Amino acid sequence: MESFRHGEFHEFIDWYDTDGNVINASDGGILYADGKYHWYGQALRDLPQNEDFLLHGGVGTVGVVMYESEDLYHWKYEGVILACSEDPNDERYAPMRFERPKIIYNEKTKQYVLWCHYVRYPGGHGFGAGQGEAGVAVCDTVNGTYRWIGTMRPIDPNGVVRDCTLYKDRDGSAYFVYDRDVSTDSDELNRCLHIVKLTEDYLSCTSEYRRIDAAFRRESPAITYRDGYYYMITSGLTGWRYNQAKYFRSRELLGEWEDMGDPCVGDLEHTTFCTQTTAIFPVEGRKDLHIHMAERHNYEQSFLHCSYVWLPIHFGNDNTLSISYRREWKVDER
Ligand code: GAL
Repeated sequence: MESFRHGEFHEFIDWYDTDGNVINASDGGILYADGKYHWYGQALRDLPQNEDFLLHGGVGTVGVVMYESEDLYHWKYEGVILACSEDPNDERYAPMRFERPKIIYNEKTKQYVLWCHYVRYPGGHGFGAGQGEAGVAVCDTVNGTYRWIGTMRPIDPNGVVRDCTLYKDRDGSAYFVYDRDVSTDSDELNRCLHIVKLTEDYLSCTSEYRRIDAAFRRESPAITYRDGYYYMITSGLTGWRYNQAKYFRSRELLGEWEDMGDPCVGDLEHTTFCTQTTAIFPVEGRKDLHIHMAERHNYEQSFLHCSYVWLPIHFGNDNTLSISYRREWKVDER
Protein backbone atom coordinates (compact mmCIF):
# COMPACT_ATOMS: atom_id res chain seq x y z
CA MET A 1 0.00 0.00 0.00
CA GLU A 2 1.35 3.42 -0.95
CA SER A 3 -1.44 5.58 0.50
CA PHE A 4 -4.34 5.33 2.92
CA ARG A 5 -7.31 4.11 0.85
CA HIS A 6 -10.81 4.35 2.29
CA GLY A 7 -13.17 4.46 -0.70
CA GLU A 8 -16.73 5.71 -0.29
CA PHE A 9 -18.46 6.03 3.09
CA HIS A 10 -20.11 2.62 2.84
CA GLU A 11 -17.26 0.79 1.17
CA PHE A 12 -15.09 -1.84 2.84
CA ILE A 13 -11.48 -1.91 1.66
CA ASP A 14 -8.95 -4.44 2.90
CA TRP A 15 -5.43 -3.31 3.72
CA TYR A 16 -2.68 -5.92 3.30
CA ASP A 17 0.53 -6.60 5.19
CA THR A 18 3.88 -7.17 3.47
CA ASP A 19 3.13 -10.94 3.30
CA GLY A 20 -0.05 -10.24 1.33
CA ASN A 21 -2.43 -11.08 4.20
CA VAL A 22 -5.34 -8.86 5.19
CA ILE A 23 -4.37 -6.70 8.17
CA ASN A 24 -6.45 -7.64 11.22
CA ALA A 25 -5.67 -5.36 14.19
CA SER A 26 -8.89 -3.97 15.60
CA ASP A 27 -9.47 -1.26 18.21
CA GLY A 28 -5.79 -0.84 19.10
CA GLY A 29 -3.38 1.97 18.35
CA ILE A 30 0.06 3.00 17.16
CA LEU A 31 3.19 3.26 19.25
CA TYR A 32 6.40 4.75 17.84
CA ALA A 33 9.43 2.90 19.25
CA ASP A 34 12.90 1.89 18.06
CA GLY A 35 12.51 4.14 14.99
CA LYS A 36 9.38 2.39 13.77
CA TYR A 37 5.64 2.62 14.05
CA HIS A 38 4.06 -0.36 15.79
CA TRP A 39 0.40 -0.95 15.02
CA TYR A 40 -1.33 -3.26 17.45
CA GLY A 41 -4.90 -4.40 17.96
CA GLN A 42 -7.12 -7.40 18.45
CA ALA A 43 -6.99 -9.97 15.65
CA LEU A 44 -10.70 -10.58 15.33
CA ARG A 45 -12.32 -13.81 14.30
CA ASP A 46 -15.92 -14.38 13.38
CA LEU A 47 -18.06 -16.39 15.73
CA PRO A 48 -20.99 -18.44 14.46
CA GLN A 49 -24.12 -16.33 14.16
CA ASN A 50 -26.23 -18.27 16.61
CA GLU A 51 -28.11 -16.91 19.60
CA ASP A 52 -24.81 -16.25 21.36
CA PHE A 53 -23.91 -13.85 18.58
CA LEU A 54 -25.04 -10.70 20.32
CA LEU A 55 -23.76 -11.84 23.69
CA HIS A 56 -20.34 -12.16 22.16
CA GLY A 57 -20.50 -8.74 20.62
CA GLY A 58 -20.57 -10.72 17.38
CA VAL A 59 -16.88 -11.31 17.42
CA GLY A 60 -13.99 -13.11 19.11
CA THR A 61 -10.26 -12.65 19.04
CA VAL A 62 -7.10 -14.72 18.91
CA GLY A 63 -5.43 -12.02 20.98
CA VAL A 64 -3.52 -8.80 20.44
CA VAL A 65 -1.26 -8.75 17.39
CA MET A 66 1.34 -6.27 16.17
CA TYR A 67 2.64 -4.97 12.82
CA GLU A 68 5.63 -2.68 12.23
CA SER A 69 6.33 -0.04 9.62
CA GLU A 70 8.75 2.77 8.87
CA ASP A 71 6.44 4.72 6.58
CA LEU A 72 2.89 3.91 7.81
CA TYR A 73 2.06 2.17 4.51
CA HIS A 74 4.11 -1.06 4.50
CA TRP A 75 3.19 -3.17 7.52
CA LYS A 76 5.19 -6.23 8.47
CA TYR A 77 3.37 -8.74 10.68
CA GLU A 78 5.20 -9.25 13.99
CA GLY A 79 2.85 -11.86 15.48
CA VAL A 80 0.61 -12.29 18.51
CA ILE A 81 1.90 -10.29 21.49
CA LEU A 82 -0.87 -11.24 23.95
CA ALA A 83 -2.68 -14.48 23.23
CA CYS A 84 -5.94 -16.03 24.39
CA SER A 85 -5.57 -19.32 26.22
CA GLU A 86 -6.88 -22.83 25.64
CA ASP A 87 -6.78 -23.58 29.37
CA PRO A 88 -10.27 -23.26 30.95
CA ASN A 89 -8.63 -22.21 34.24
CA ASP A 90 -6.81 -19.30 32.64
CA GLU A 91 -8.35 -15.80 32.74
CA ARG A 92 -7.63 -15.62 29.03
CA TYR A 93 -9.58 -18.74 28.11
CA ALA A 94 -11.14 -18.17 24.66
CA PRO A 95 -13.51 -16.88 23.46
CA MET A 96 -12.69 -13.77 25.47
CA ARG A 97 -11.58 -10.31 24.42
CA PHE A 98 -8.87 -7.75 25.10
CA GLU A 99 -11.02 -4.88 23.85
CA ARG A 100 -9.50 -1.54 22.88
CA PRO A 101 -5.95 -2.47 23.88
CA LYS A 102 -3.57 0.48 24.31
CA ILE A 103 0.19 0.43 24.96
CA ILE A 104 2.50 3.09 26.42
CA TYR A 105 6.17 3.02 27.40
CA ASN A 106 7.30 3.61 30.97
CA GLU A 107 10.73 5.31 30.94
CA LYS A 108 11.35 4.56 34.63
CA THR A 109 10.66 0.82 34.57
CA LYS A 110 11.72 0.46 30.90
CA GLN A 111 8.58 -1.56 30.27
CA TYR A 112 5.85 -1.40 27.69
CA VAL A 113 2.51 -1.44 29.50
CA LEU A 114 -0.76 -2.56 27.91
CA TRP A 115 -4.22 -1.81 29.30
CA CYS A 116 -7.48 -3.05 27.81
CA HIS A 117 -11.15 -3.62 28.49
CA TYR A 118 -11.03 -7.25 29.54
CA VAL A 119 -14.05 -9.43 28.84
CA ARG A 120 -13.81 -12.99 30.11
CA TYR A 121 -15.12 -16.19 28.50
CA PRO A 122 -17.58 -16.42 26.75
CA GLY A 123 -17.35 -12.72 25.91
CA GLY A 124 -20.59 -11.14 27.12
CA HIS A 125 -20.75 -7.51 28.24
CA GLY A 126 -22.47 -8.21 31.56
CA PHE A 127 -22.12 -6.83 35.06
CA GLY A 128 -20.69 -9.90 36.81
CA ALA A 129 -17.11 -10.43 37.87
CA GLY A 130 -14.86 -10.63 34.83
CA GLN A 131 -17.43 -9.17 32.47
CA GLY A 132 -16.06 -5.63 32.38
CA GLU A 133 -12.65 -5.11 33.93
CA ALA A 134 -9.45 -3.25 33.22
CA GLY A 135 -6.80 -5.77 32.10
CA VAL A 136 -3.04 -5.11 32.34
CA ALA A 137 -0.02 -6.76 30.68
CA VAL A 138 3.68 -5.77 30.39
CA CYS A 139 6.71 -6.49 28.23
CA ASP A 140 10.38 -5.48 28.15
CA THR A 141 10.33 -5.05 24.39
CA VAL A 142 7.70 -3.40 22.26
CA ASN A 143 6.92 -6.47 20.16
CA GLY A 144 7.68 -9.33 22.57
CA THR A 145 5.23 -11.60 24.38
CA TYR A 146 3.35 -9.52 26.92
CA ARG A 147 3.06 -10.95 30.44
CA TRP A 148 -0.50 -10.91 31.73
CA ILE A 149 -0.71 -9.21 35.12
CA GLY A 150 -4.43 -9.42 35.80
CA THR A 151 -7.63 -7.44 36.03
CA MET A 152 -9.19 -4.80 38.27
CA ARG A 153 -11.91 -2.20 38.48
CA PRO A 154 -10.50 1.31 38.96
CA ILE A 155 -12.14 3.73 41.45
CA ASP A 156 -14.33 1.03 43.04
CA PRO A 157 -15.77 -2.38 42.21
CA ASN A 158 -19.21 -0.98 41.34
CA GLY A 159 -17.93 0.68 38.22
CA VAL A 160 -17.92 -1.83 35.39
CA VAL A 161 -15.23 -1.08 32.79
CA ARG A 162 -16.36 -0.72 29.17
CA ASP A 163 -14.49 1.07 26.34
CA CYS A 164 -11.18 2.58 27.38
CA THR A 165 -7.96 4.27 26.34
CA LEU A 166 -4.57 5.15 27.83
CA TYR A 167 -2.87 8.52 27.67
CA LYS A 168 0.73 9.36 28.52
CA ASP A 169 1.26 13.03 29.29
CA ARG A 170 4.36 15.10 28.46
CA ASP A 171 5.59 14.89 32.08
CA GLY A 172 5.54 11.09 32.02
CA SER A 173 2.36 10.69 34.08
CA ALA A 174 -0.21 8.33 32.58
CA TYR A 175 -3.98 8.03 32.69
CA PHE A 176 -6.59 5.35 32.09
CA VAL A 177 -9.81 6.66 30.60
CA TYR A 178 -12.87 4.44 30.63
CA ASP A 179 -16.59 4.30 30.20
CA ARG A 180 -17.63 3.58 33.78
CA ASP A 181 -20.90 1.69 33.79
CA VAL A 182 -22.95 1.86 36.97
CA SER A 183 -26.29 1.18 35.32
CA THR A 184 -29.06 -0.33 37.41
CA ASP A 185 -32.52 -1.60 36.49
CA SER A 186 -34.05 1.78 37.23
CA ASP A 187 -31.23 3.78 35.68
CA GLU A 188 -30.36 1.77 32.62
CA LEU A 189 -27.75 3.91 30.99
CA ASN A 190 -25.79 5.46 33.84
CA ARG A 191 -22.50 5.43 32.00
CA CYS A 192 -19.95 8.21 31.91
CA LEU A 193 -16.31 8.53 30.87
CA HIS A 194 -13.88 8.78 33.80
CA ILE A 195 -10.17 9.56 33.80
CA VAL A 196 -7.91 7.98 36.44
CA LYS A 197 -4.25 8.77 37.07
CA LEU A 198 -1.99 5.70 37.07
CA THR A 199 0.77 4.92 39.55
CA GLU A 200 4.37 5.69 38.52
CA ASP A 201 4.90 2.17 37.18
CA TYR A 202 1.63 2.44 35.17
CA LEU A 203 0.50 -0.93 36.57
CA SER A 204 -2.33 0.27 38.80
CA CYS A 205 -4.54 3.26 39.53
CA THR A 206 -4.03 6.07 42.04
CA SER A 207 -6.96 7.60 43.92
CA GLU A 208 -6.82 10.70 41.68
CA TYR A 209 -9.61 10.68 39.13
CA ARG A 210 -12.33 12.77 37.56
CA ARG A 211 -15.78 11.97 36.24
CA ILE A 212 -15.96 13.69 32.86
CA ASP A 213 -19.53 14.89 33.30
CA ALA A 214 -19.82 16.23 29.76
CA ALA A 215 -18.93 12.78 28.40
CA PHE A 216 -22.06 11.07 29.67
CA ARG A 217 -22.97 8.01 27.58
CA ARG A 218 -19.91 8.27 25.33
CA GLU A 219 -17.39 5.59 24.42
CA SER A 220 -14.39 4.77 22.18
CA PRO A 221 -12.35 7.63 23.71
CA ALA A 222 -9.09 8.80 22.07
CA ILE A 223 -6.96 11.68 23.36
CA THR A 224 -4.39 13.99 21.86
CA TYR A 225 -2.73 17.26 22.90
CA ARG A 226 -1.90 20.43 21.02
CA ASP A 227 -0.99 23.93 22.06
CA GLY A 228 -2.33 24.01 25.62
CA TYR A 229 -5.40 21.83 25.09
CA TYR A 230 -6.16 18.15 25.43
CA TYR A 231 -8.74 16.88 22.97
CA MET A 232 -10.80 13.74 23.33
CA ILE A 233 -12.85 12.30 20.45
CA THR A 234 -15.60 9.80 21.31
CA SER A 235 -18.55 7.88 19.87
CA GLY A 236 -22.07 7.33 21.18
CA LEU A 237 -23.32 4.03 22.57
CA THR A 238 -24.77 2.01 19.70
CA GLY A 239 -22.50 -1.06 19.78
CA TRP A 240 -21.05 -1.82 16.36
CA ARG A 241 -23.51 0.47 14.58
CA TYR A 242 -22.03 3.81 13.52
CA ASN A 243 -23.10 6.97 15.26
CA GLN A 244 -22.18 10.64 15.50
CA ALA A 245 -18.81 11.53 16.96
CA LYS A 246 -18.42 14.18 19.60
CA TYR A 247 -15.27 15.73 21.01
CA PHE A 248 -14.32 17.42 24.24
CA ARG A 249 -11.42 19.67 25.21
CA SER A 250 -9.73 20.63 28.44
CA ARG A 251 -6.64 22.50 29.57
CA GLU A 252 -5.95 19.81 32.18
CA LEU A 253 -6.45 16.07 32.02
CA LEU A 254 -8.13 16.00 35.43
CA GLY A 255 -9.81 19.36 34.83
CA GLU A 256 -13.18 20.24 33.38
CA TRP A 257 -13.84 18.96 29.88
CA GLU A 258 -15.95 21.04 27.53
CA ASP A 259 -18.40 19.57 25.01
CA MET A 260 -17.25 20.75 21.57
CA GLY A 261 -19.76 18.88 19.38
CA ASP A 262 -19.17 16.84 16.26
CA PRO A 263 -15.67 17.20 14.76
CA CYS A 264 -16.69 15.69 11.40
CA VAL A 265 -17.20 18.03 8.45
CA GLY A 266 -19.38 16.92 5.53
CA ASP A 267 -20.57 13.86 7.43
CA LEU A 268 -24.11 14.13 6.06
CA GLU A 269 -25.44 10.99 7.74
CA HIS A 270 -23.85 11.87 11.12
CA THR A 271 -22.12 8.51 11.39
CA THR A 272 -18.47 9.63 11.74
CA PHE A 273 -18.17 8.70 8.02
CA CYS A 274 -19.52 5.21 8.87
CA THR A 275 -16.76 4.58 11.42
CA GLN A 276 -16.01 4.55 15.13
CA THR A 277 -12.95 6.18 16.71
CA THR A 278 -10.04 3.89 17.65
CA ALA A 279 -7.08 6.11 18.59
CA ILE A 280 -5.16 9.26 17.66
CA PHE A 281 -1.41 9.31 16.97
CA PRO A 282 1.05 12.04 16.02
CA VAL A 283 3.16 11.47 12.89
CA GLU A 284 6.88 11.59 13.70
CA GLY A 285 8.67 14.69 12.51
CA ARG A 286 5.48 16.29 11.22
CA LYS A 287 4.43 19.17 13.41
CA ASP A 288 0.70 19.16 14.07
CA LEU A 289 -0.03 16.09 11.95
CA HIS A 290 -2.19 13.91 14.15
CA ILE A 291 -4.03 11.00 12.57
CA HIS A 292 -7.50 9.96 13.73
CA MET A 293 -7.60 6.15 13.42
CA ALA A 294 -11.14 4.83 13.10
CA GLU A 295 -12.78 1.62 12.02
CA ARG A 296 -15.65 0.75 9.71
CA HIS A 297 -16.89 -2.36 11.48
CA ASN A 298 -18.10 -4.96 9.02
CA TYR A 299 -20.60 -6.48 11.41
CA GLU A 300 -23.03 -7.54 8.68
CA GLN A 301 -20.57 -9.62 6.67
CA SER A 302 -17.33 -10.41 8.44
CA PHE A 303 -15.27 -8.84 11.19
CA LEU A 304 -12.21 -10.14 9.35
CA HIS A 305 -12.84 -7.45 6.77
CA CYS A 306 -13.36 -4.30 8.80
CA SER A 307 -11.92 -1.18 7.17
CA TYR A 308 -9.38 1.13 8.73
CA VAL A 309 -10.10 4.80 8.11
CA TRP A 310 -7.21 7.06 9.04
CA LEU A 311 -7.77 10.78 8.55
CA PRO A 312 -5.66 13.84 9.36
CA ILE A 313 -7.03 16.09 12.10
CA HIS A 314 -7.31 19.76 11.23
CA PHE A 315 -6.65 22.14 14.14
CA GLY A 316 -8.30 25.56 13.98
CA ASN A 317 -6.78 28.79 15.32
CA ASP A 318 -9.46 28.94 18.02
CA ASN A 319 -8.41 25.67 19.67
CA THR A 320 -10.98 23.62 17.85
CA LEU A 321 -10.47 20.59 15.64
CA SER A 322 -12.21 19.03 12.67
CA ILE A 323 -11.97 15.98 10.45
CA SER A 324 -12.86 15.82 6.75
CA TYR A 325 -13.23 12.64 4.74
CA ARG A 326 -10.74 11.61 2.08
CA ARG A 327 -11.21 8.60 -0.16
CA GLU A 328 -7.43 8.34 -0.39
CA TRP A 329 -4.50 10.41 0.87
CA LYS A 330 -0.77 10.37 1.68
CA VAL A 331 1.10 11.85 4.60
CA ASP A 332 3.41 13.76 2.21
CA GLU A 333 0.47 15.55 0.62
CA ARG A 334 -0.26 17.27 3.88
C1 GAL B 1 -18.97 -1.00 20.88
C2 GAL B 1 -17.64 -0.71 21.52
C3 GAL B 1 -16.69 -1.78 21.08
C4 GAL B 1 -17.26 -3.13 21.43
C5 GAL B 1 -18.63 -3.29 20.83
C6 GAL B 1 -19.27 -4.63 21.21
O1 GAL B 1 -19.91 -0.08 21.31
O2 GAL B 1 -17.17 0.55 21.17
O3 GAL B 1 -15.45 -1.55 21.69
O4 GAL B 1 -17.34 -3.25 22.81
O5 GAL B 1 -19.45 -2.25 21.24
O6 GAL B 1 -20.61 -4.68 20.94
